[in-house]
Amino acid sequence: MYAAVVHALGQQPRYESVAEPAPAAGEVVVEVLAAALYPLVRSFASGGHYTGGDALPLVPGFDGVGRTTAGELVYIPGLEPPHGTMAERVAVPAAALMPVPEGLDPVAVAAAMNPASAAWIALRERARLLRGETVLVLGATGNAGRAAIQLALDQGAGAVVAAGRDERALRAATELGAHRTVVLGGPDEEVAAAFGAAAAGADIVLDYLWDRPAELALDGILRHRADLTRTLRWVQVGSAAGADMTLPSAWLRKADVSVFGSGLGSISGARRNAALRDLLERLPDLAPTTEAVAVPMAEVEAAWASPVRSGARLVFVPAGGDTEAFGPWEALKGREAV
Ligand SMILES: NC(=O)c1ccc[n+]([C@@H]2O[C@H](COP(=O)([O-])OP(=O)(O)OC[C@H]3O[C@@H](n4cnc5c(N)ncnc54)[C@H](OP(=O)(O)O)[C@@H]3O)[C@@H](O)[C@H]2O)c1
Repeated sequence: MYAAVVHALGQQPRYESVAEPAPAAGEVVVEVLAAALYPLVRSFASGGHYTGGDALPLVPGFDGVGRTTAGELVYIPGLEPPHGTMAERVAVPAAALMPVPEGLDPVAVAAAMNPASAAWIALRERARLLRGETVLVLGATGNAGRAAIQLALDQGAGAVVAAGRDERALRAATELGAHRTVVLGGPDEEVAAAFGAAAAGADIVLDYLWDRPAELALDGILRHRADLTRTLRWVQVGSAAGADMTLPSAWLRKADVSVFGSGLGSISGARRNAALRDLLERLPDLAPTTEAVAVPMAEVEAAWASPVRSGARLVFVPAGGDTEAFGPWEALKGREAV
């Protein structure tokens, strides 16, 4: 069979012939229909992920949508290196497979699940959102941030504040239902004041950025918060702006601030899988917030390194997949990101 294969950490994979998967006890072979490329997948393939290793060669791809030998459409919730989902077939523990609701497109599901699950788990399992609460989405213009706006509202948030550096993309956040926006990138004082004006009453921050944007947001919120004993639950989900931030000790003494993370290590596998099953059931009622761009897996080497329109998500489809969906990738080839 064929697969994408990374031979040097940080280098794009090559499309190559590899051995068929050898299922262990309790595992079944699943034919992969769609596997998305997103920051976690790149991180594993570069050896940089906090749960990953550096074994080579490796087949990238964390999750995906496939079909069992019995013909069932299933979600594959997460394979760690070196045997990822960017292959024609994978061995998966049978108990881990999750049914994909009828009528959903495998490419769209593969594109949606990582960003949607980031918000779903952070809101429901970590922050435990209560109806009517105010949620600040820090980094609202990316795939994960857009899904967070949608799911916060879907799960009963009373108000959502969207923060990002791209004003045009923030307008799209408003169209998704965000009540207020904060534009990043201006002078620090102005950005902190904008956070104070828009999000001083926030109950939950879903933070996909960290670093300077997080410092300014926390400073702005605490400076303008009417009741500093009202708990602020700060959920660290991603670090698109930078891996570190300065957290002045006084901020944790002057207000009731709880800082915790949401990621692969922060909840048990059983809880994560239960949450993913719930999310899959909810998906048919949600409009997609991620633009899926299907790419033949044979083109993985060029696609991996190509700039793609901001907001679009590449989804690799093995040979014989849905060629109808290949149009957007053809159009994006060789173009600069817009
Ligand atoms: N813990 C989890 O479960 C989990 C799950 C999914 C994602 N994540 C993490 O969440 C983050 C976002 O993921 P994604 O899927 O949304 O990625 P994405 O679609 O590639 O979007 C990245 C976003 O980050 C923004 N950004 C990058 N650098 C920035 C900076 N210096 N200041 C402000 N904004 C900046 C980008 O803004 P522009 O559009 O303006 O460039 C874009 O909106 C990543 O760190 C990812 O690893 C975590």
